[in-house]
Amino acid sequence: MKKKDFNRYTVTSALPYANGPLHIGHLAGCYIPSDIYVRYLRSNKKDVVYVCGSDEHGVAITIKAKKEGISPQEVVDRYHEMMKKSFLEFGISFDHYSRTSAKIHHETAAGFFKDLYDKGEFLEQNTEQYYDEEAGQFLADRYIEGTCPKCGNEGAYGDQCEKCGSSLSPTDLINPKSKLSGSVPVLKETKHWFLDLARYTDFLKNWILVEHEHDWKNNVLGQCRSWLEAGEGLQARSMTRDMDWGIPVPVEGAEGKVLYVWFDAPIGYISSTKEWAAEKGIDWEPYWKDEDTKLVHFIGKDNIVFHCIIFPAILKTHGGFVLPDNVPANEFLNLEGDKISTSRNWAVWLHEYLEEFPGKQDVLRYVLTANAPETKDNDFTWKDFQSRNNSELVAIYGNFVNRAVVLTHKFFGGKVPDLSQLEDIDKETLQLLKEFPEKIATSIERFRFREALSFVMDFARTGNKYLADTEPWKTIKEDQDRTGTILNIALNLASNLAIVAEPFLPFTSAKIFEMFNLNGLNWGNVGRADLLKPGDLLNPAALLFEKIEDHVVESQVNKLLESKKRNELANKEVSPMKDIISYDDFAKLDMRVVKVLTAEPLPKSKKLLRLTVDTGLGVKTVLSGVAEHFKPEELVGKQVTMLINLAPRKMMGIDSEGMILMAEDKDGSLRLLQPDKPTADGSMIS
Ligand code: MF3
Ligand code: ZN
Repeated sequence: MKKKDFNRYTVTSALPYANGPLHIGHLAGCYIPSDIYVRYLRSNKKDVVYVCGSDEHGVAITIKAKKEGISPQEVVDRYHEMMKKSFLEFGISFDHYSRTSAKIHHETAAGFFKDLYDKGEFLEQNTEQYYDEEAGQFLADRYIEGTCPKCGNEGAYGDQCEKCGSSLSPTDLINPKSKLSGSVPVLKETKHWFLDLARYTDFLKNWILVEHEHDWKNNVLGQCRSWLEAGEGLQARSMTRDMDWGIPVPVEGAEGKVLYVWFDAPIGYISSTKEWAAEKGIDWEPYWKDEDTKLVHFIGKDNIVFHCIIFPAILKTHGGFVLPDNVPANEFLNLEGDKISTSRNWAVWLHEYLEEFPGKQDVLRYVLTANAPETKDNDFTWKDFQSRNNSELVAIYGNFVNRAVVLTHKFFGGKVPDLSQLEDIDKETLQLLKEFPEKIATSIERFRFREALSFVMDFARTGNKYLADTEPWKTIKEDQDRTGTILNIALNLASNLAIVAEPFLPFTSAKIFEMFNLNGLNWGNVGRADLLKPGDLLNPAALLFEKIEDHVVESQVNKLLESKKRNELANKEVSPMKDIISYDDFAKLDMRVVKVLTAEPLPKSKKLLRLTVDTGLGVKTVLSGVAEHFKPEELVGKQVTMLINLAPRKMMGIDSEGMILMAEDKDGSLRLLQPDKPTADGSMIS
């Protein structure tokens, strides 16, 4: 498609569900990329609005409320504030952060539904849906769990299997179970309003696969292609749900029904823009309706179908709205080799990060961008975090800027020195000073933020190398003018660096501008070697980055491992009861308190210990599978319980004459069963 000229930008990031705190996966997925893009646009003096807000409807919220025993309203109030604060703290520079419980949003979303309804766009259908008779409620989406028909995952949801990624409908699940009561749901008839997506297939195919074939990301095009071209193609989707939490369906005969969360949430971008414009006293409409507005949705890959297919179909049918010009979705970020999960507490939470690494927002922004899951899933590891901080931010970026400032203070009293005769190395460096910003800009405009950041770092590396090669700390001894020239160039390079790095590392750039007494610099100033002029005064050097020690990241890894352990314990189910036995069966068991006399490892077995015990009736030998749990000396002299009339069994050539009784904890570790006071050996247990 011909490249359009845009005069205005509307940039959105996915509205996060207000059902938990934010973690690094959120930041890496869509908030840092959108923030980089928007900061770059603002630095280029573009007319841009950047909106977001909390997604407060849907089953994600009501399930959380039920789990915590509080109301959905309490859930969203708590997390809305928390998320808003985290975004602010990490420099995510929304122009407006709204919430879908806002009145203006209810009106806007209901208005869209009504518009489509009046146009006769919905298929009104009675369908059978799962109903929980114990809870007296229909089970939408995630209220139902069962086995995925595609991959066999037993914990698949009614709308999606997170293991294999298939999108499902509740009736696809094998062995469906209600999440509310655990009971087996029954099918019951209910009326819903469906969007007949198949009708948009031709339009969507042309718009996405032809018009945007070359400017949308491959991962996005790939998913769209499979939605549009695979199997039976697009299916009708219900835009309403039987629930009491959400936006009431604004038509007659829809009591007890609300809008599907994925119908209302994307309209939240529009409501948020309306709220922003009203506060500023300007008109919101150009930001959504003028053809010269570039609309860009930043999302994670699980949101692609909603932003590329369903929402555009809604906008198109409503009419009068621009469609997204791009939807640069990211893939997923994993953590230390495992999927990030709120429920399993496998995450780095933003509020905890800030407590443990105060003032280090830019380090996280840097690492999450340098390792962003732009084209494939990626892994965040604390080791990588440490090494990128130490060997890139500290050793290259920080070192370069710091040396330029410190040497200027040392040799020139903090005054920017004069420029004199230029040598070849100076000219080459000044040439790079012109080239880097252009390369960085091109990458940002193509949504290649990783690549852009690697150019930023190359730019810093150029500065670092320039100082290493020219050695101003040596030239100062015989040539003050030469030294001045070098530092003048280095300082101007650092000023340019601070401008082009600002979208990525805003807190650091602010510190550099402060050191340099430079205000209001933007992308329009880059490429110039006179941002700092001879005689300008610098402030004292500020610390930009500092080394992160091994023990600091090790303790983060340990924290994660501990949370994994706690989780496994909590999630392990207690074994079900065995079949009922008669008293006679029980009475046959001869169980006694016995004392361990000796315990020794068996040379050929990792698991077994050979014990001799005093049963009160004599000494018996037992082979017990406890070698991985107890050291022999931990057992000797202890009283334990034993089944002494079990038929002898030969193992490894030795007769084992009974069984030591133990309890197995959830994590598989074993506990001895001991009398609470010393007891005569051979005492009966009954
Ligand atoms: N809350 C959704 C999620 O976290 C994203 C909603 S994006 C919007 O996956 F477009 F619907 F707002
Ligand atoms: Zn599956």
